[in-house]
Amino acid sequence: ALERTLSILKPDATRRDLTGKINARFEEAGLRIVGQKRVWLSKAQAEKFYEVHKARPFFNDLVGFMISGPVVLQVLEGDNAVARNREIMGATDPSKAEPGTIRRDFAESIEANSVHGSDSLENAAIEIGYFFAGTEIVA
Ligand code: CMP
Repeated sequence: ALERTLSILKPDATRRDLTGKINARFEEAGLRIVGQKRVWLSKAQAEKFYEVHKARPFFNDLVGFMISGPVVLQVLEGDNAVARNREIMGATDPSKAEPGTIRRDFAESIEANSVHGSDSLENAAIEIGYFFAGTEIVA
């Protein structure tokens, strides 16, 4: 089914000017970028976005990392977009990600892992709504 998912190019990716290379992976995989903006998240925004991880030991570091530089927020659209995007991103830990995946090829560490992608269709809708107004998504 045609789905939308939220993608974030993280500060380690923008710092190394990987936006174009990562976007090419999405487009080659049949994921169209129907919304996109480069922003510098506030601490409050990052904390709210990662609220589900609040109790995790890596939470404070993660928030600090996510506000260490600009990110690119994206809405990707395509057939089975949520699962498709997770497939091409690869595992959270780049050392465990399959060859040819974005994280295996570009990520620096389990934290600085270059991209975020929604983990379910339900969360995709929540995450998209958190960052994008309807008028900012153009299919
Ligand atoms: P993401 O898919 O955005 O979801 C949570 C993020 O926490 C994850 O990618 C990583 O950037 C970060 N993180 C840091 N350490 C860990 C860890 N040990 N396990 C999972 N995620 C981690």
